[in-house]
Amino acid sequence: MAFNKENTVKIREKYNTKHLVAENAADMRRSELWIRIPELREIDRRLSATGPRLMAISLRKSNETVAEVRADVEELSRRRAELLEAHGYPADYTDPHYECAKCQDSGYVDGKMCECMRRELILAGYESSGITRLMGTQRFDNFDLDFYRDTPATYNNMSYAFETMRSYAQDFDPAVSPNLILFGGTGLGKTHLSTAVAKTVIDRGYDVVYTGAIGMLADFERARFGNASGVESGNGTERYFDCDLLIIDDLGSEVSNQFTVSCIYNVINSRISLGRPTLISSNLNQKEIGERYWDRIASRLFGEYIPLVFSGKDVRKQKISKK
Ligand SMILES: Nc1ncnc2c1ncn2[C@@H]1O[C@H](COP(=O)(O)OP(=O)(O)OP(=O)(O)O)[C@@H](O)[C@H]1O
Ligand SMILES: [Mg+2]
Ligand SMILES: [Zn+2]
Repeated sequence: MAFNKENTVKIREKYNTKHLVAENAADMRRSELWIRIPELREIDRRLSATGPRLMAISLRKSNETVAEVRADVEELSRRRAELLEAHGYPADYTDPHYECAKCQDSGYVDGKMCECMRRELILAGYESSGITRLMGTQRFDNFDLDFYRDTPATYNNMSYAFETMRSYAQDFDPAVSPNLILFGGTGLGKTHLSTAVAKTVIDRGYDVVYTGAIGMLADFERARFGNASGVESGNGTERYFDCDLLIIDDLGSEVSNQFTVSCIYNVINSRISLGRPTLISSNLNQKEIGERYWDRIASRLFGEYIPLVFSGKDVRKQKISKK
């Protein structure tokens, strides 16, 4: 389980603030009541002495008994509730009102991450993965295999691709999952299934980066000029190396030059060395990949990636003609 580091830091800070805001607001309400009901102030002063009184007993520096202290606390609390009610305030008026009662907005319960924080991290994961918009519409449950009925071979092939990607996502484990490369013409569902994989893997708590090849290379381009002008670290390209699963959509759509090819090589090679899975999709076929990229890239894409070849008739067109 490895949520995106930046998101985790951001959300922890947010929780610290939330927790403090709730406590400050409670303090303000208490101060306001102390002015209105002076007796309450005295009660709160005596209640806050409970800890020191118990401490003194345990250190044998006091002649009181624990039972006596308890009785006092009960009596003070009863009187406190009575005063609040008499002045028309709810009994919990001076308690902090947390958004999440379970973790009191700390994000943790008994040292374990609270459900509310896990949800926030998953949502942040959608955002930082870069595919929030697509994830609503491109899911496993609305991927329709009937679009591949033209021949039994196509249907079998696409059923296999679908099942492979679904179990890939459901069983994803950054330490053991292989690399996948999807080949196939336009409109055959490569992006659809890649998006579905991204969402499932994020929901399972992993850090996913989803990027078009063009967008990724634009980031490297920016980083190159950033570095030239003396900007240090944090250039935005680390995530391509660090994330649990990198999805590069549409490899081959980028401009091909020495710089872009070396960036692609660097990403693919580094992730293989680090043992971090990558999923690539491309409109190019194996032969075109061999022609376009260095042998060093092609041999890795063929040797270290499991290929899934998408086939059939353009689903985009089929959907339009059905309307
Ligand atoms: N089997 C399917 N069931 C339902 N919708 C599908 C299916 N396959 C593709 N689509 C839809 O058709 C459109 C095109 O699919 P997608 O973008 O995944 O194709 P692609 O293989 O990535 O094409 P390209 O190479 O042009 O990027 C999308 O809107 C997608 O949601
Ligand atoms: Mg696509
Ligand atoms: Zn919580």
